[in-house]
Amino acid sequence: MSGKSEKPIGPAHVAIIMDGNGRWAQKRGKPRLFGHHAGAKRVREIVEACPDLGVKYLTIFAFSTENWKRTQAEVSGLMKLFHRYLTRETRVLVENGIRVRFIGDRMRLEPTLVELMDNLELMTADNDAVHLTVALNYGGRDEVTRAARRLCREVAAGKVDPERVDAEELARHLDTYVLPDPDLVIRTSGEARISNFLLWQSAYSEYDFVDTLWPDFTKAEFARVVGAYVARDRRFGAVPG
Ligand code: FPP
Repeated sequence: MSGKSEKPIGPAHVAIIMDGNGRWAQKRGKPRLFGHHAGAKRVREIVEACPDLGVKYLTIFAFSTENWKRTQAEVSGLMKLFHRYLTRETRVLVENGIRVRFIGDRMRLEPTLVELMDNLELMTADNDAVHLTVALNYGGRDEVTRAARRLCREVAAGKVDPERVDAEELARHLDTYVLPDPDLVIRTSGEARISNFLLWQSAYSEYDFVDTLWPDFTKAEFARVVGAYVARDRRFGAVPG
């Protein structure tokens, strides 16, 4: 921001690493999945808060390419939770004008889950109030690798001149090709790591690491973090204006 008279500009795209479900449950002497269910409830509240905060794009990290390393019970519990969530939330998402997209590699996901994902994308394709992107079996390195592979195929087929491959061309092959880069990335639970989330897209994003565990992350705290972003001075590598 430069002049004082300018209206502060909030983040149009917020991405969230929803961390801390397991610890939240453990603190209560409950199984980890109890925390994931509490975390899923928070997702709705945070999505609903977006329009008032001027957040047009929300991207959430639901399951990473590394999360398969968790116990089989936790992985299958999470997959069931995604099934349930996508089924139960469909109506609310459609009615509230939420456009849903998924990023990540669908190849390893159960076909019934992929079908739900495809349907939800189709059913919300005309919505525009908030663009919710769910990262499911997503890893930043995996995404860039898949993009590079697609690009190589196009080069090999003579469709793309290798000399014309630049950052924009590569970005067009990412899962996020229709989305703007995130302005703000939030991670809950006190860990200060990116964990392979939106590696390419967050090159110039602001980060906010908050101590709150995801199931305790309220709309009020979301509003506070978004407000704190407004006070920051983003320079994109340039000198202060
Ligand atoms: C991180 O907490 C959370 C996850 C790996 C899963 C995130 C999933 C949800 C919030 C469920 C709902 C999502 C949707 C889209 C319905 P953790 O298990 O790593 O917690 P810990 O670090 O305390 O162990």
